[in-house]
Amino acid sequence: MAVGSGPPGAPRRPRVFSGIQPSGDVHLGNYLGAIKRWVDGQRDKENYFCVVDLHSLTVPQDPETLRRQTRSLAALLLAAGLDPAQCTLFVQSHVTAHAEACWLLNCVTPLGWLHRMTQYKDRAARQESVGAGLLDYPVLMAADILLYDTDEVPVGEDQQQHVELARDIAERWNRLHGETFVLPTAVIPTAGARVMGLDDPTAKMSKSQAHVPGHAIRLLDDPDVIRRAVSRAVTDSGNEIRFSDDPARAGVTNLLGIYQAITDKSERSVQADFADARGYGDLKRRVTDVILGVLAPIRERHAELMADPAELDRLLARGAERARAVAGPKLAEMKQRMGLILPA
Ligand code: TYM
Repeated sequence: MAVGSGPPGAPRRPRVFSGIQPSGDVHLGNYLGAIKRWVDGQRDKENYFCVVDLHSLTVPQDPETLRRQTRSLAALLLAAGLDPAQCTLFVQSHVTAHAEACWLLNCVTPLGWLHRMTQYKDRAARQESVGAGLLDYPVLMAADILLYDTDEVPVGEDQQQHVELARDIAERWNRLHGETFVLPTAVIPTAGARVMGLDDPTAKMSKSQAHVPGHAIRLLDDPDVIRRAVSRAVTDSGNEIRFSDDPARAGVTNLLGIYQAITDKSERSVQADFADARGYGDLKRRVTDVILGVLAPIRERHAELMADPAELDRLLARGAERARAVAGPKLAEMKQRMGLILPA
């Protein structure tokens, strides 16, 4: 049976779509906020996961590095547990419907909606020259989501506003051109939705800072590098190991949040696990152990997958073919509704 099709007459399974950029180093925030949830939730749903290389082009990239990172990220997603029998994994630029649908959606999206996006405002403020692609980024993301009649979009907290925009664009399109799109909902995890930097627990762990020593845990980091980064994580001068809203205790709360997201425990049982801990040194050692426990097998499997690039490319080609089978008809419907003639 093809991935996604259920037995005849069965109710439609929830459709899931999510994406991740191949630029920068994938870190623990990406894993806990998104990838782990994709892996854990893949059964019983119809899943599309995409390496969004076109999104990466919104800031300058070195072509060779981008190509290498695109393959490496696909291998990493498989190594983390995405199962090609349960989900369609593909590279965004292999399915040209995404860029085409983005153009059609651009034509119904008010510019003011894009200027309001906080990620755009943050990034634009940090750059001297801002390309049109950066402003249009969330419309391409809407195209990704809407082409697949997506119900659920599992993402970290920082992408929630973009998913809400995709929903607004879908509503506006449906009003202007007739019912075409399912309205998607962002699914944000209870733990791990916003993993903070180890060097500064008041700022989000970020791909663009992942190369700065001590900021992030990169999924492919050497265990010694991980040990060192956690042992140097910023905490406070106290010794109480519990979750707290106090910004001064954000470092400890972040470490506990990482532990909670990896172990899937409740806050209460996480705190119980640390009831016998002796100070922050103990906390850091135990957090390091659970991080290494989950990342070591991923790192090993990634190396195996990277050793056979031809097989990886074949797998991505199959994923793109399956994605095209869904995105193609939806794009044709969009064109037809807008008044374009389809080629004979
Ligand atoms: P990207 O590549 O920046 O991040 C991939 C996923 O990781 C989550 N994330 C985090 N979660 C918790 N803590 C953090 N510190 C953290 N940093 C990142 C992100 O929320 C995301 O879920 N625009 C998207 C990619 C995209 C997409 C899509 C997502 C393109 N099209 C369609 C969903 C649906 C992005 O740049 O993610």
